[in-house]
Amino acid sequence: AAWRSTRARSGSSTGGSSTPRSISRSSSMSKFVTEDTHGSLNFQLMMPAFSACCEELVSRWTQSLGSDGWCEVDVCPAFQTLTGDVISRTAFGSSYLEGRRIFELQSVQADRIVAEVKKIFIPGYMSLPTKKNRLMHQTNNEIESILRGLIEKRMQAMQQGESTKDDLLGLMLESNMRETDDKGQPILGMTIEEVIEECKLFYFAGSETTSVLLTWTMIVLAMHPEWQDRAREEVLGLFAKNKPEYDGFSKLKTVTMILYEVLRLYPPAVAFMRKTYKEIEIGSITYPAGVIIELPVLLIHHDPDIWGSDVHEFKPERFADGIAKASKDPGAFLPFGWGPRICIGQNFALLEAKMAVCMILQHFEFDLGPTYSHVPHNQKMLRPMHGAQIKLRAI
Ligand code: HEM
Repeated sequence: AAWRSTRARSGSSTGGSSTPRSISRSSSMSKFVTEDTHGSLNFQLMMPAFSACCEELVSRWTQSLGSDGWCEVDVCPAFQTLTGDVISRTAFGSSYLEGRRIFELQSVQADRIVAEVKKIFIPGYMSLPTKKNRLMHQTNNEIESILRGLIEKRMQAMQQGESTKDDLLGLMLESNMRETDDKGQPILGMTIEEVIEECKLFYFAGSETTSVLLTWTMIVLAMHPEWQDRAREEVLGLFAKNKPEYDGFSKLKTVTMILYEVLRLYPPAVAFMRKTYKEIEIGSITYPAGVIIELPVLLIHHDPDIWGSDVHEFKPERFADGIAKASKDPGAFLPFGWGPRICIGQNFALLEAKMAVCMILQHFEFDLGPTYSHVPHNQKMLRPMHGAQIKLRAI
């Protein structure tokens, strides 16, 4: 397991695209989505946001049904909207529409950056006043000015004594204002710029990844109706047609196995990188300081020596006894990374995905659309290259 020993340092990036990492993991935003610091209370706070967004998705799809009871949707953009809305609501509460605008702008910006990165790299090119670069600066300014407005409005409300603890931004600002120095004097924990960076990171890290997970889940469940039926049976057995409750989620065995198997076959972040900060021996090779090493998650997840000869097949039952027993190497399942920079939003993502899968299974049965072609493609993340056309029927 040589690839593991390279992960002990920070300064990493996800899926080949760089993510801002200027904020320490101790910020309250990070704590809010991490189970071990605040426990289940935080997740219970998020449940209304999860279910409200999923209800909207189900009702949009229900309205699209034709007179024959069926409709066809490309679930990729539908899930992008869903996961963007979830982050908007959990991060900004009642101001979530402004949050949604930030999400749209960031997504456009990320596409532009990926397109630029694919070209031949000329140092300093991104700073030249070309038409594209000016557009990127404008977009960045717009994102920052919406965020700044949101933050300033919220800080004013807090100074006037309003409680804003029920969303990520409120929690972050509140804990920020409580920070004190060694002598107990109040200090501002983060600057507004840092709060802005933290909000942007959450959007980037939290919405695209989860929408990709949901997209592949719909595709494989459409390809494997026997698993779709098994999952629906479990969901209806636990929740009937009622709104899924937080306590029931820990009893979802089949749905959890399915989500793990989807993350194994189609990890949204196909690789991540580490840089050696000193000379280091990995396996039998010695690397000098400053070498960038890519950890090929997709290849590790598809290695027959680790997972067996059925490695390319969709077999959720391999996770029946948990992640550690699913393969010959208990550390080979890496969709959320590993080590000090492991994804802090993994529980958030899995809960959100469970809510969406449960509500979809409660309301629809689905098949692949006739135009769907199976071409997993790595652009920013691992996505279906020609969209994910799914035919839905209300049940
Ligand atoms: C299926 C969904 C998700 C996947 C597959 C995923 C994957 C990852 C991976 C692989 C990393 C580590 C990158 C590295 O080590 O270089 C990471 C980091 C991170 N993720 Fe996620 N993520 C998901 C959802 C989320 C969500 C929902 C949030 C926030 C609500 C989030 C927030 C973060 C943050 C803030 C980091 C950086 C942590 C740090 O550097 O300390 N992620 N994610």
